[in-house]
Amino acid sequence: MRGQNQAPKIRAAEDSLALTPPMGWYPWNEFGQDPQNERLIKEIADALISSGMKDAGYVYVGPDEGRCFSRGADGKLTPTLAGYPSGLRGLGDYIHQRGLKYALYTDAGTHTCSNAMPGTKDHEFEDMAAFARWRADYVKIDWCNTEGQDPAQSYTKLGHAQLAAGRPIVFSLCSWGEGGPWKWAASVGHLWRTTGDICAPGKADWGAAMRNTAANEKLYAAAGPGHWNDPDMLITGMDGLSETQNRSFFSLWCMMAAPLMAGNDLRKMTASTIEILTNREAIAINQDPLGIQGHIVRREGQAEIWAGKPLFDGSQAVLVFNSGTAPAQVRVTWPDIGSAESASLYIRNLWTHQTTGPQRGGITVSLPPTDVALLRISKSNAFPAPPVIVADSYWLSFRAPGPGPQKLTGAITVKTNGSDELPLWKVRPSLPSWLTVSVTKHGKSQTLTSTVSTGGLAKGLYHAVVRADNIEPVSRQPMSALYYDVDLEVGGSARN
Ligand code: GLA
Repeated sequence: MRGQNQAPKIRAAEDSLALTPPMGWYPWNEFGQDPQNERLIKEIADALISSGMKDAGYVYVGPDEGRCFSRGADGKLTPTLAGYPSGLRGLGDYIHQRGLKYALYTDAGTHTCSNAMPGTKDHEFEDMAAFARWRADYVKIDWCNTEGQDPAQSYTKLGHAQLAAGRPIVFSLCSWGEGGPWKWAASVGHLWRTTGDICAPGKADWGAAMRNTAANEKLYAAAGPGHWNDPDMLITGMDGLSETQNRSFFSLWCMMAAPLMAGNDLRKMTASTIEILTNREAIAINQDPLGIQGHIVRREGQAEIWAGKPLFDGSQAVLVFNSGTAPAQVRVTWPDIGSAESASLYIRNLWTHQTTGPQRGGITVSLPPTDVALLRISKSNAFPAPPVIVADSYWLSFRAPGPGPQKLTGAITVKTNGSDELPLWKVRPSLPSWLTVSVTKHGKSQTLTSTVSTGGLAKGLYHAVVRADNIEPVSRQPMSALYYDVDLEVGGSARN
């Protein structure tokens, strides 16, 4: 137990991972277990790019509980080549080459939920080392088959195992709220499930989504940059929701600063689903650098007024949600959202993309059942967008045919989709002696040029992870660190 005067340690304070809620895609909600394989994950990775979702910030992708690995007689995890013929490192390389990040799944118990794969119990260190070898950037750890285990102890051990494995990894704890992770998990990982599953695979469930919302809303004080409440993956675009519900659901997840892990089949989305999932004005609320989770400040009948979410530029997010079955008319007063009655404020509607005002006193909104008004309210009518980082690749691979001294260079370009240019990325100096990185800027794009010098290196394989840090220029908040892999093969030895 912590002493009274000791501030809790936040894991993200060291690795600067997930300082805004993680965005990406996981297969479980749509597919469940058996349709998952390498081909599906690769097709979804391609669809993340072609649909515009990558440009909107969705970056983590990989298998959930599928049939990815087994444990050999020597205790080591081995990829299941039947479903993943490139191996799990090969799938990671495919994802990294395309400027996406690699997510994997396991369990804190003896087995995963369907018993299809071994869990990490008593193999925590070797399994996290395997995930690091496969180059995972994100790992979700489930809570099935954990009889007799304590969530805080088990997940803390897994967090230590990840640190020992030496690879920066976003740690998604999935105990469905068991053990109250919002009380202790910020020191262990980056996000934690607060609820049970949002649906059974293949069918969205509005009622379950509302139950998850209610449970997650209450925990708003526990969320912040690098430590998020997770009310489960998205159901937007799945069978079972109306277009209005899709939009309202997405607005609630944005307002709660919830991780945005899409769960639908990205290979066949309607135009409306793409528009909802890539609404940059809504995503700007979710990805706001202050990382504050909004909450309900007042109820009026079946309508909820959500506020308490100041944003990086001094504006604030406000959500009015009609959770009932009859139309509602709701008056939101400026004092409801913490502003003076006399304040003269602009109102930006994040679904119609229109600005009205300035207006004093408040506003009245009319909402059909299950609909929302997602608003940004400000003294200024500028409404800037916070940065969203899009990279062309997260992997550089060099090959020097002979052991003589050579210089090889490769570049990764990183674009900022936000209103402002960023200062130069600052590369961490702790690189191996064979690698240097320089950064150049061309407006909203920056190029990280990596130069490897093979002089003095013995034949063999070399690997480094480059870390670069930045700040958001309006609020001066630290941004999530940028990491990428550099491989060097000297003298023609084969990759293992
Ligand atoms: C649990 C999790 C789900 C999914 C399944 C896989 O139910 O909460 O998100 O990972 O396990 O079996």
